[in-house]
Amino acid sequence: EKGGYDHFMLKEIYEQPSVIKDTYRGRLLANQGIIKMSGLEDNLSKFTNADRIIIVACGTSWHAGLVAEYIFEDLARIPVEVEYASEFRYRNPVITEKDVVIAISQSGETADTLAAIKLAKQKGAFVFGVCNVVGSTISRETHAGSYTHAGPEIGVASTKAFTTQITVLTMIALRLANVKGTISQSDYMLQLRELESITSKVEEALQSEPKIKEIAQVFKDAANFLYLGRGYNFPVALEGALKLKEISYIHAEGYPAAEMKHGPIALIDEQMPVVVIAVNSNHYEKVVSNIEEIKARKGKIIAVVTEGDTQVKQLADYIMEVPATPESLTPLVTTIPLQLLSYHIAVMLGKNVDQPRNLAKSVTVE
Ligand code: M6R
Repeated sequence: EKGGYDHFMLKEIYEQPSVIKDTYRGRLLANQGIIKMSGLEDNLSKFTNADRIIIVACGTSWHAGLVAEYIFEDLARIPVEVEYASEFRYRNPVITEKDVVIAISQSGETADTLAAIKLAKQKGAFVFGVCNVVGSTISRETHAGSYTHAGPEIGVASTKAFTTQITVLTMIALRLANVKGTISQSDYMLQLRELESITSKVEEALQSEPKIKEIAQVFKDAANFLYLGRGYNFPVALEGALKLKEISYIHAEGYPAAEMKHGPIALIDEQMPVVVIAVNSNHYEKVVSNIEEIKARKGKIIAVVTEGDTQVKQLADYIMEVPATPESLTPLVTTIPLQLLSYHIAVMLGKNVDQPRNLAKSVTVE
């Protein structure tokens, strides 16, 4: 059932091009400029009239929520707050009937996310689910929703669930942007076409695996890692660090690159690998100067760059290339090398990749 792969995690990493396609198939008609998801269409006015969207989730799903915050605000101009479900539910949050709450959960069984939904419903909010497991508790408890079509995810470390969640959330944001008129028609059409062709770019990103394996070999004995990104790729940095922690047991932290100078830069020395997401974006020059700050303190730079990059290539010790794509879609490709890096480090260290210690696939205790 591992389809010839050594682990479910690797199989699931490689399934991403096809499950992303499964997730948009029949819903995204790029040539016609159409996005149709019945859960969304039936409740469109709830979203367009909402004062704000509150996203609740845990772990990797929370990271997908953070990516969605950038997409919704950037494209659809709707204010978004992303909350750890566990904090939200215990804090007496301000929620009204004018709020839309989106709950993101692969399993649809996470206890804290479920409790957050129940609270939001009690307060009168409209609650929308983005779940993977059909018929799961969260998918039943929400007022409406859109499934991801990742198929069963067996590895405890979430991979294909994350990229398919981002796919669904991107489609929602684009549909709302189109209805609200916050995106130009030409940009809308471009984004749809680019989303449709993202699968071949994910495929291309996977081809760097041999090179990533070499990088894993160099850094597998490091005691700590830092992951840095800005904008859309800040949540990807968090997700990269989480993947490494949970399967290799190496301490790793994700940070917004600009926050380095407010503390974490004190950690940098020649022992510290720093994974920097430095793809083409509005922040490119800023990320370059963050890399220079790390170099000046002898940190080792592993950079995720856009194919054809020259500037970061000169500064970085190692690079992992991904194809160019509009900035809002970069998380779908930049995530790939980080998944593979953590996978190979964990395998080289002899860890139980699919069943890491102390972890369960779904956390059904509060
Ligand atoms: O099933 P859910 O998406 O609700 O699960 C949320 C987290 O427990 C989950 O993403 C966890 O952080 C993963 N082990 C991350 O790889």
